[in-house]
Amino acid sequence: MLCTTRVNGKDLTIKGRELNPEDDDVEVDINFFEQSYSPAGLTGFTIWEASWVMVRNVLQDRLKDKLQGARVVELGAGTAFSSLVASALGANVLVTDLEAVVMGSILPNIIYNENENSTTDINTPTSSSAWQGSRRVGEGSVSAMSLDWMTDVALQVIDNDPRDADLILAADTVWLCELIEPFVTTCVTLMKGPKNPPLYMTFRDRSTDKSTVFAGSDELFECFRRNNCEVNVLDKIDPEDKRKGGLVTLCLIKLASS
Ligand SMILES: C[S@@+](CC[C@H](N)C(=O)[O-])C[C@H]1O[C@@H](n2cnc3c(N)ncnc32)[C@H](O)[C@@H]1O
Repeated sequence: MLCTTRVNGKDLTIKGRELNPEDDDVEVDINFFEQSYSPAGLTGFTIWEASWVMVRNVLQDRLKDKLQGARVVELGAGTAFSSLVASALGANVLVTDLEAVVMGSILPNIIYNENENSTTDINTPTSSSAWQGSRRVGEGSVSAMSLDWMTDVALQVIDNDPRDADLILAADTVWLCELIEPFVTTCVTLMKGPKNPPLYMTFRDRSTDKSTVFAGSDELFECFRRNNCEVNVLDKIDPEDKRKGGLVTLCLIKLASS
């Protein structure tokens, strides 16, 4: 178990895998031969610190009173921790990630946290804006779909279209330089949806002078600006665990014309 927490009267339990570099045991990875499973997908089974920043500084603080009934999409959600907290606070969330992460991490966490009396409280005011296939978690609801940033969004739409969102969340989604372009393209596609949803993003800068592998905030924000977006840095938070990177930046990104 990764964490248990109580949000708005709802007990949430998030399951996954501890990432412990001192552990000598090599765990057998049952997803290893899945087609959509890449090294990137390996990161989707734990809660990263930028998710805690998303939960504490965005969902339980800046957006707390605006989540009731809002249609939210989370990108690269991993364990779905932020999405489940948003749902407990009344949002209707579509949780997205690579297919192997949706199947192995997101769906088990949604099912585990579904309200016990799910069928009896389906007529709450938030139901009308719930995504297809949603389960009740707290006051809101949660559904899931696979959404790979390497593929055109339109080609991945089945029951739900993530472009039909009021709000987008992304916590610690971009850590490699090669992810910047596809991630920004996906975000901009969603932001151009009918409601021009803003994106709340937490980003952990792991770039160093010696390596060109890890994404830095300058390149990421520059890519958003080239795509006609405004980047507003709302806060910079010194993380508790300093071994896994630098400051966590919290930003609000919108289409410049919206
Ligand atoms: C560092 S983890 C962050 C997980 C979660 N948001 C958190 O903060 O705890 C990065 C997430 O991005 C997802 N991801 C990586 N490449 C992706 C891609 N091409 N399309 C969609 N999701 C991707 C991974 O599967 C993983 O869940």
